[in-house]
Amino acid sequence: MPKLEVGASAWAVESGSNLLDNLLSAGQVVPFSCRAGSCHACLVRCLEGYVKDALPDALTAEERAEGWRLACQCQIAGDLRVAVFDPKVDGIPATLIAVDWLSVDVVRLRVQPERPVRYQPGQSIVLWVGGIARSYSIASLPGEAVWLEFHIDCGRPGRFCEVARGFTPGDKLSLGALNPSALHYPADRPDSPLLLLASGSGLAPLWGILHEALRQEHAGPITIVHRARQGGEHYLRTALDALVAEHNGLSAEYLDKETWESWLKGFWLSSRHTVTLACGSPVFIEAVSRRLFMAGLPRGQLLTETFVSKAI
Ligand SMILES: Cc1cc2nc3c(=O)[nH]c(=O)nc-3n(C[C@H](O)[C@H](O)[C@H](O)COP(=O)(O)OP(=O)(O)OC[C@H]3O[C@@H](n4cnc5c(N)ncnc54)[C@H](O)[C@@H]3O)c2cc1C
Ligand code: FES
Repeated sequence: MPKLEVGASAWAVESGSNLLDNLLSAGQVVPFSCRAGSCHACLVRCLEGYVKDALPDALTAEERAEGWRLACQCQIAGDLRVAVFDPKVDGIPATLIAVDWLSVDVVRLRVQPERPVRYQPGQSIVLWVGGIARSYSIASLPGEAVWLEFHIDCGRPGRFCEVARGFTPGDKLSLGALNPSALHYPADRPDSPLLLLASGSGLAPLWGILHEALRQEHAGPITIVHRARQGGEHYLRTALDALVAEHNGLSAEYLDKETWESWLKGFWLSSRHTVTLACGSPVFIEAVSRRLFMAGLPRGQLLTETFVSKAI
């Protein structure tokens, strides 16, 4: 049986068994959320030995070369020595500089990191507070603000959201792994119609990407569609309407639970060149993907990010 070693502890494990399960059952403190390779909360560093990684492309070549692996995606293939992610050592310390409730459920956090974070619009990063680590999309634009902005939907019970409800400016947290995202501004298609579809706080990465499109003076028309649980939860409506008033070619639509279904059913593709970016819950992404492909959108022109949360 292979031996798994973490710090001063070592124990025998089944060959082929899951690394995260083994760490947790031995009492090691490893945060996790999605168990699907999406959230990057379960990052660990393999110092010696070999694991079979089901999702190697979830990490960059640099991260992999440094030994980082997503524990939920790894099977133990032989003796292994790992170190768990320590936010104090491996993360970037950061301070909350603004906490604003944009609707009853969505809070906007502005977070000032102690060291610069190099990111692309649309990427997400792991926020650590206490022992909790969760991924959140960055809504700010690199180079424009010294802070990172996040939109957190606290409408459902959950560990991070419970803490977020009590956040005040000055609170400390740590930034963990920066996740690569399928969402990005399609700079190679400056004339294509751009359709941005968001449900709830899925608007966060699209907010950053919309600003990038405007910064790059995107020539094609841009439509942004925000689906909220109900009318009062279009948490960026005022800011979005101001952008629409300023920019020819930009339009916004606001839908709720009832109007969304008929909008989606009646959707037709005005141009086969449309590039669509969609972000939100797994159910939302599935419905959008199915409908857009039926409407004739070529596969490579739909980019999605799914807010997978903890499977309980
Ligand atoms: C790449 C990525 C980017 C993301 N970006 C964002 C973002 O920008 N904004 C955002 O708001 N979210 C985002 N998420 C989701 C986020 O990471 C968290 O999953 C979410 O905020 C819930 O975390 P939590 O700790 O509060 O809930 P958890 O404790 O992890 O619980 C998960 C879910 O379980 C259910 N649950 C938990 N406890 C209870 C209970 N006692 N009773 C009933 N149900 C319960 C709830 O539905 C809850 O939402 C993203 C996820 C991914 C993977
Ligand atoms: S990536 Fe492993 S728990 Fe989310």
